Amino acid sequence: MLLLKDLETLEATVWQELERCVRDKTHGWRTGVLATTDGEAGEARTIVLRDVHAYERALVLFTDQRSPKVAQMSAHPRGTLVLWSAALGWQLRLRVLLQVETAGLAVSSAWARLKMTPAAQDYMSPLAPGTEITHPAPERGSREFFALVTAQVQAIDWLELRAGGHRRALFDGKTRRWLQP
Ligand SMILES: Cc1cc2nc3c(=O)[nH]c(=O)nc-3n(C[C@H](O)[C@H](O)[C@H](O)COP(=O)(O)O)c2cc1C
Repeated sequence: MLLLKDLETLEATVWQELERCVRDKTHGWRTGVLATTDGEAGEARTIVLRDVHAYERALVLFTDQRSPKVAQMSAHPRGTLVLWSAALGWQLRLRVLLQVETAGLAVSSAWARLKMTPAAQDYMSPLAPGTEITHPAPERGSREFFALVTAQVQAIDWLELRAGGHRRALFDGKTRRWLQP
């Protein structure tokens, strides 16, 4: 009984930390590695967590709609997001269902906030990400290719590293279990 209550508290704490990491640029979980597949091989890249909706168990990412990961996520929406915080000693492996949006209210309101900042240029290059170029200097573009990605969290594999003994737990939305690390 006590163990179950601990797991409940732990899951709530994990979501609080996720909400905190989007506001705190020094939080280790703000940047993570998103793994997807193109159907043949796995692909992985660093991304920034832009927003967290704990109640809906959803995370929000931004990307360029022409980037290869967008085609991968559209064809194969299951992915894994790996986060590590050295300060907490906590790793999260989040099984996620990825949905890309390029239009609609969520996209336009995120873009309205972003377009006033220098980071807007990340989504305005005239050439698609990954295009081979002759000079490394980025060209500036005038139209945006902004996309918002919602990662619906299906399961959280939590791992705590500590000198006294590691701990691991699984939260899949229905059950909470301790696992052997
Ligand atoms: C610290 C860091 C943060 C990044 N954040 C993002 C991000 O939020 N969104 C994004 O699309 N790419 C981000 N990138 C770039 C990606 O890691 C990747 O190089 C790029 O998106 C192309 O990936 P793809 O070929 O798999 O589409 C980031 C890279 C670094 C090093």
